[in-house]
Amino acid sequence: MKSNKLASIALMLWVITIGVFAWFFIRGNTAAGTDGRTAIVLQTGERDLVLSEMRGLLSAIQGVLEGANQGDMQHIIKASRAAGMAGAADVNPALMAKLPMEFKSLGMSVHHDMDEMAKAAEGGVTAPEILKMAANTLTKCVACHSAWQLKAKN
Ligand code: HEC
Repeated sequence: MKSNKLASIALMLWVITIGVFAWFFIRGNTAAGTDGRTAIVLQTGERDLVLSEMRGLLSAIQGVLEGANQGDMQHIIKASRAAGMAGAADVNPALMAKLPMEFKSLGMSVHHDMDEMAKAAEGGVTAPEILKMAANTLTKCVACHSAWQLKAKN
C-alpha cells in the first residue's frame, strides 16, 4: 500500500514537471512589450545572439536579391545557404525554451525557405521565380517583427 502511494506521488510529480516544461516551451519567456508588441525576455548575450542571426538573415536576403538582379545563381546559392537550417540548428536549449513556439516555428520556416531558395537556384529556376520566393519570405520577416520585441533582462 505504502509503496503504491509513493509511486502515485512520484508519477504525479513527474506529470507536473513535464507539464510545466511543456508550458514554458510553448509560451516562452514573455512579457508585455513597450510598444504594443509582446516582448521576449532574454539574457543580454542571448538577445545579441538572436540579433546577430537577424543581421545574417538581412545580408542573406540582400545577397539573394543582388544575385537575382545580376542573374548570378552562384551568388544566390551562397547567400541563401548561409542562412539555412544548418546554421540555426546549434542554438542552445535554454534559449530555445525562452522563445515562444510560434516564434520558433516562424523562425524555422524562414531558415527552411532559405534552403529552398538555394535548392531552387541549384535546380536552375529563373531569377523572377527566386524573387517571388524572396518576397514570400520577406512577408514572414515583417509578420514576426510586427508581433515580437526582444528585451534584455540584465
Ligand atoms: C520569428 C521571428 C522573426 C523572424 C521570422 C525574423 N525576425 Fe528579424 N527580428 C525579430 C525580432 C523579435 C527582432 C528584434 C526587434 C525588436 O526588439 O524591436 C528582430 C530584429 C531584426 C533586425 C535588427 C538586428 C539588430 O542588430 O538590431 C534585423 C536586421 C532583422 N530582424 C532582419 C530580419 C530579416 C531580414 C528577416 C527575414 C529574412 C527576419 N528578420 C525574420 C524577429 C524575427
